[in-house]
Amino acid sequence: MSDANKLIIFDTTLRDGEQSPGASMNLSEKLEIARALDDLGVDVIEAGFPIASPGDFEAVRAVAHEVRRPTICGLARCSEADINRAWEALKDAERPRIHVFLATSAIHREFKLHMAKEEIVRRAVEGVKRARGYCADVEFSPEDAARTELDFLAEVVEKAIEAGATTINIPDTVGYAVPEQYAAAIRHLKKTVRGIDNIVISVHCHNDLGMAVANSLAALKEGARQVECTINGIGERAGNCALEEIVMAVRTRGDYFGIESEIHTQRLYPTSRLVSHVTGISVQRNKAIVGQNAFAHEAGIHQDGMLKERRTYEIMRPEDVGLPRTELVLGKHSGRHALKARIKELGYHLDENQLQKVFEAFKVLADKKKTIYDADIEALAESQVHDGPALWTLDSFHVSAGSNNIPMAAVSLTHAEGRKMHDAACGDGPVDAVFQTIERITGVDVKLKDYQVRSVTVGEDAQGEARVEVEYNGRLQRGQAVSTDVIEASAQAFLQAINRLAVREQQPRINPQTEMVTVS
Ligand code: KIV
Ligand code: ZN
Repeated sequence: MSDANKLIIFDTTLRDGEQSPGASMNLSEKLEIARALDDLGVDVIEAGFPIASPGDFEAVRAVAHEVRRPTICGLARCSEADINRAWEALKDAERPRIHVFLATSAIHREFKLHMAKEEIVRRAVEGVKRARGYCADVEFSPEDAARTELDFLAEVVEKAIEAGATTINIPDTVGYAVPEQYAAAIRHLKKTVRGIDNIVISVHCHNDLGMAVANSLAALKEGARQVECTINGIGERAGNCALEEIVMAVRTRGDYFGIESEIHTQRLYPTSRLVSHVTGISVQRNKAIVGQNAFAHEAGIHQDGMLKERRTYEIMRPEDVGLPRTELVLGKHSGRHALKARIKELGYHLDENQLQKVFEAFKVLADKKKTIYDADIEALAESQVHDGPALWTLDSFHVSAGSNNIPMAAVSLTHAEGRKMHDAACGDGPVDAVFQTIERITGVDVKLKDYQVRSVTVGEDAQGEARVEVEYNGRLQRGQAVSTDVIEASAQAFLQAINRLAVREQQPRINPQTEMVTVS
């Protein structure tokens, strides 16, 4: 494949993806996802926004240190402090990239930055030059480019290239663009900006109007060669361009696009599952490529066609995106090796100690359940991807409920310092009573925003997965857990959300899309 035909996949699941409400991840979860992205074959991993919080800084540093093949990128505003901090986090990377951004649209200039056009250009140039002082690979993003006057956008882009930017990204920050118009903006830049043929044009589209993928594809037709995207399309508000959709669109319609990515497409499904597990954000059933129904044929006429010749109704093969051929994998008599191999195939990188714990839990589960499915194994593996010991662990609980009783729960928890504490409370139902008791013991009073229980697999002995979303201090936090007992799963999910809150509350963070740029 020539360079001109290569599509650069820039994954920002760990940065823009993490900006999805409630999707914050801890260090070991971010590392786990970074390793999976490496296996997937992405070219660039945007690992975080180092100045945003100490947690973000550590995550970028750890990813830069450990994941050696892809370019590792850190985000920075055009300020001295941001760029210094980004470099501090990235300096051990094999291939570091600093990504600087500054808003250029009239609405951002007037209301957010209070800066005139000249000042925007001056700061963009200073930011790019400062970043180039540290590293040869510098990306510049005129934030809200899609709503910026085309002539001014061209001016800023040209100045950023002169200052040394090697990639120019054109963000549709608020998901406002439509394909023809976005493509025309790329065409205009290609035609008018000096030096543009020597750099990579990148696109970064949000999905507020459901057009992030369509806009990105339209830009590729005009010569953009990097797409910024996230697994499952997670991200701010309605999310970002979905990596799996871009990759499979370009591959399936190679005849039309004439470009290729180096993504190992069979890793798409396992990576999607991993990100969904870690973030607690479910993938909608009919989601393209990785949704549960994406390859399911219901209508008899379709099934008949499929049996005669699958291409009658199938434009991609499920195995090409890594959909498991058979869901039933292991049973009570399966050994450690089979389990280890399956965990690896599912995209997890567990060390021997973690594998041993999963194996022990697997044996316990196999005694309770006749058949163990991929989803069961994922749930066990996921329980190992955590950042050190939790603040609170569940020892035991007891509930009593019935049609003419007041639902009550008694719960016993252990604090990380060793204190055992128990309490009891009444609630609207047994789950509510458990949640209320956990709140009493931990002293954390949250607002329950969402609560869902679903069966992980099929059958009467299936495990139940509970997902909760709570609000605390105006921010959302998710928790998720699996058990054959749905009340236990609910208690564990609620406690996980509270444990994550405890870590998060020690780390105030800056949101790049809402915060003012501090003066350099
Ligand atoms: O959406 C956006 O504009 C961004 C930039 C920081 C690239 O995420
Ligand atoms: Zn964005």
